[in-house]
Order: sequence, then C-alpha cells, then structure tokens
Amino acid sequence: MNFTGSNILSVEQFDIDSIQTIFAIADRMQPYARRQKRTKVLDGAILGNLFFEPSTRTRVSFGTAFNLLGGEVRETTGMESSALAKGESLYDTARVLSSYSDVIAMRHPKSGSVAEFAEGSRVPVINGGDGANEHPTQALLDLYTIKKELAYHGHDVDGMHICMIGDLKFGRTVHSLSRLLAMYKDIRFTLISPRELAMPDSVLEVLDKAGHRVTITDQVSGSSDADIVYQTRIQQERFTTPQEADMYRGKFRLNSEIYTKHYKPNTVIMHPLPRDSRAEANELDNDLNQNPNLAIFRQADNGVLIRMALFALTLGVADQIEKYECDV
Ligand code: CP
Repeated sequence: MNFTGSNILSVEQFDIDSIQTIFAIADRMQPYARRQKRTKVLDGAILGNLFFEPSTRTRVSFGTAFNLLGGEVRETTGMESSALAKGESLYDTARVLSSYSDVIAMRHPKSGSVAEFAEGSRVPVINGGDGANEHPTQALLDLYTIKKELAYHGHDVDGMHICMIGDLKFGRTVHSLSRLLAMYKDIRFTLISPRELAMPDSVLEVLDKAGHRVTITDQVSGSSDADIVYQTRIQQERFTTPQEADMYRGKFRLNSEIYTKHYKPNTVIMHPLPRDSRAEANELDNDLNQNPNLAIFRQADNGVLIRMALFALTLGVADQIEKYECDV
C-alpha cells in the first residue's frame, strides 16, 4: 500500500505487509513518545482534529501524536459547536477545513460519514470511528498490543484463540479488529454476546471466507484456553433508548473471580475503553487493575505510537523522523 496522501478509512485497505510497515514505524516512535528524543519532522504542519462524537483516548492521542512529531493541532469537538448543526454538508465542511490542515482525523456518529467527508477533503483523512461501522486506528493499536503481549509469552497471532465479549453488534472496535485478524492464519474466535447483539453477518462472512474457526454463543464457556479476552461496553449511544441498553448491561462481567474460574492464568485482558464502571454495567471490574495480564492501559499507550506512525506515513515523512531530531 502507498500510504503517502492516502486516507485511512477502513482496515480493509491493509494487507499483512502494510500492517508490518505501520508496526515497524510505531516501534521507532517509542523514544519520542517517552520524551527520550525529540523530532520536528512535522514542524509547521497542522492536524484538523474533528470529533463530532465523544472521545477521550482517540482524540487526545491523535493530538499528542501530532505534537510529538512537531506539528500543531486545531480541534473542534461536538456537533453542536460546528456548522454541521446549521445544516452544512460533510462535503462543504471537508472542502473548507482541508484547506486549513495538512491531515484530518475525524469521528462522527454516522456509519460511512468519514468516507463521505473524505470525498470533499483535499488532504488525507483518518477515521477515528464512524458510528457502529469501523475504528481502524483502534484495531491497529489492538493488534499491535496483541502481538506484543503474545510475544511476551512466546506466542504468535497465527493460531491464537480470542474471545470477544459484549456488544458485538454495535462495537465498531471488534468489527475492525476481526477484519484485521482475518488476514492472519488459523485463528479461533469465540464470540460471546446476547443474541440480539451478535457480531454482524458482514464480519462473520469475512472470518468464514478466511477459514477461521468461529463459535457464537451467549454463554461464557469454551473460553478456558483463550489467549486473549476482549471485553466491550454496551454501546448505549447506538440504541433507540437508554432503557433498551439497560436490558443488556451487566450480562457479561469480568472480575477477578470470573477470570480465575474461566480463563487460563496468562490470558491477556483487553478492552478498547472506556469501560462502563457503573455498578449496573461494570463489564471489567477494578479488582483486575493489578493483574499483570490486564493490557488495557498498554493498549491506550500504544495508540500514540500507532497514530504517530500513521501521520508519518500519510504525510510521507517516515524516513525523515531521525533527520529532524532536536534537543530534548
Ligand atoms: N477506544 C476509544 O475509542 O476511546 P475513546 O472513545 O475515548 O476515544
């Protein structure tokens, strides 16, 4: 894949080689993210960071990643504070904002909206989550984390067993991650959700076509040899009413007791965050916070590295990062 000038809209754009390219550059970003080194490779460049739906990690890590490469960030948050609330089209917004920016990161509640926006943009657009559809940068950071966590235990992505649990219908991170994992070999997927919130057929078809073993269930069983357990939140914002979401909250909790009972000792615990810590939900309990297999904060840290790599690639400066090093 030629990254320079390209939009990043879906994980479907990638193949194993392009994923390896991203991960190799993410590895090189470690000393900059840790403030051991400093680069000005994006000095003078501007990121348009447009978040029309709530976000903590994705928005701030996109901004942090751009700053760490020496660039500046202009943000808009919330639909109501943009001219979209006055009926402006995504196309017009994109035409205008792309002349103020060198690259744009965007989140929007409607599936397909980031691709629609990209039609009007004259600079690369990176999808920070479009409705229940995709979250490609989250999937990349999840896969990067999985690779590192499994390598620590001497294992590989090929042949692994992953349990995805919770709202698999509306959870865009599991859609993108499944599509990405489909590119690897002989993965076992155990998909645990209420029947009404099962993984969409469009994703299951990709896994089936790639020959992976998939078990669909509404019981937390058959997971005792899982290498990864990936919990998700009930995506209340995608339901018609909060009461509808209430019917599913708290059905698939993971805490220390359940973890010890259902999983092998080294199963890696993941969650894209935010986790819903209210008592009625609590899909990932705080009593696991000191468990060394809890990778949720390593996932969030890796998000900066992956987003730095994507900026370097889409802006065509990946081979100049070291050249523009400056004093820390
Ligand atoms: N994982 C994730 O997308 O988190 P935010 O909603 O905080 O960006």
